[in-house]
Amino acid sequence: LLAVFPPRATLVGPVRVYLETFGCQMTELDSALVRGHLAAMGYRFVEDHAQAQVVLYTTCSVRELAEQKAYSRIGEVGVRKREGEEIILGVLGCMAERDGLDLLRRHPQVALLCGPAELDRLPQLIDNVRRARAAATAEPRGEGSIPAVRNASSRAVALAGNRSRRSATLSAAEDGLESLDLSRAFDPDARENPWSAYVRITRGCNKFCTYCVVPYTRGAEVHRPPEHIVEECRRLVDSGAVEITLLGQTVNHYRYTHGPAVTLDGRAAPQVGPGLQAFRDGSRPAARTTTFADLLHLIHERVPGLRRLRFVTSYPRDFGDDVRAVMRDSPRICRYLHAPAQSGSDPVLARMNRGYTVAEYEAFVERTFAALPDASLAGDIIVGFPGETDADFDATCSLVRRLPFKNNFIFKYSPRPGTVAIDRFADDVPDEVKRWRNNALLAIQSETSARVHAGWVGRTVDVLFDAVRERPAQGAVRAAPGTPVTLRVRGEDPALQAAPSAWQAVGRTRGDLIVAVDLP
Ligand code: SAH
Ligand code: SF4
Ligand code: F3S
Repeated sequence: LLAVFPPRATLVGPVRVYLETFGCQMTELDSALVRGHLAAMGYRFVEDHAQAQVVLYTTCSVRELAEQKAYSRIGEVGVRKREGEEIILGVLGCMAERDGLDLLRRHPQVALLCGPAELDRLPQLIDNVRRARAAATAEPRGEGSIPAVRNASSRAVALAGNRSRRSATLSAAEDGLESLDLSRAFDPDARENPWSAYVRITRGCNKFCTYCVVPYTRGAEVHRPPEHIVEECRRLVDSGAVEITLLGQTVNHYRYTHGPAVTLDGRAAPQVGPGLQAFRDGSRPAARTTTFADLLHLIHERVPGLRRLRFVTSYPRDFGDDVRAVMRDSPRICRYLHAPAQSGSDPVLARMNRGYTVAEYEAFVERTFAALPDASLAGDIIVGFPGETDADFDATCSLVRRLPFKNNFIFKYSPRPGTVAIDRFADDVPDEVKRWRNNALLAIQSETSARVHAGWVGRTVDVLFDAVRERPAQGAVRAAPGTPVTLRVRGEDPALQAAPSAWQAVGRTRGDLIVAVDLP
């Protein structure tokens, strides 16, 4: 395990790379940035992993199932390596950070590990592995040969480890990732989806929900300077993006205090946030602070070409009325909130360390719909958290019936190594009970979704169509993407039912409701 060679920019031949992503939107953005960075250095991306010399998986650790998918891919590459193929296999992202050196020990085919906070170093890591391998396979040059180099391990590792939390301030100062975000490619052809893009505003998470690995894999919460974010949005729009989604694990906790965090040459630097304390006294922050509401307003005003500004994931507490006011007054900000409740039972929420009660969650939803009647609400729910009784689960069912969730992602609790919950609480809800609760809640959610959808019939909505598909959906085709149109939703049309069209246009409203219209 080594990083023996000094960093230097290396021109590479047309090395073929295959990159696959298993994870959340943050991870999709990571992969997009890595792709741009490597492409700029001369690496060529291929669609077929069998053609690749370098295979990279950007991975997720949030549930065991997410990890299993990546492990089965790692296993496939292992078979190819045993058959004698020369492949550099790299595991990037949260699983690399969580499983760390154990992963290397158990999977000798893995040549490279790179955690989410170290992705700016990836080209150097690949380079190190390639050169160490070349050195290891080189013919000994007689007397003068250096055995240490011939025996050098051809594996390379970059993980944040404890550094990400040892000193939050230091980790922000060492934040090489900012340069990765700043150096992103604005070539629309290089983006998988040229009309829609993610922009990170906050890295990491300081919440420590007891079930969750993210604070350990992504490190301390660090906010990006607002100028960098606005500039990135502007350049994305100049290059054809009509929709931008701002990313943060608790996106409404964004808060940047101007002044102290600067680089040596005086530029603004990423900054550790003031933490939850800043939200407790309810007072306006000092004048030189950019809050989340300020940031939304800034992007809305400074990037007029942006048709849709969205953000995920909202943390249900600390969602200020200032944010609702900016949303209400800014027509191009989507009235869409992804704000996971996680559970409808107070004792479960307390054991999860979510920091709010069911009543507080409901108050958050009520205030939101009072200010933004056309808002739409989505969330996540975990079933089978340790100690979840039938009564706790019934309370969650009741919440999903009561509140206007357009959808909820429902997950079975998965104990994660390194988290507080796995040490403190026995995973005592049997898997078949988790499965039953999952299905029961899905059924309730589909009734709630149907009710929310029915409420939109007869209303006029803006739809951003991004696909045309054959009906039934065989081989979806993209056509005329990124065209916003105004559409009247009429509900069931008997004429269309009698003679269904072969084609549908599919898009999303500003509230992220999916709309499919039959095309003539
Ligand atoms: N930062 C976001 C969520 C990030 S993880 C938030 O706080 O809302 C995405 C979702 O995965 C979480 O909302 C949670 O519902 C789910 N999740 C996280 N850890 C989990 C675990 N150990 N088992 C099951 N689901 C989990
Ligand atoms: Fe995980 Fe909680 Fe942070 Fe979301 S807020 S990433 S669930 S610790
Ligand atoms: Fe997974 Fe890491 Fe995202 S654990 S959910 S890829 S932040």
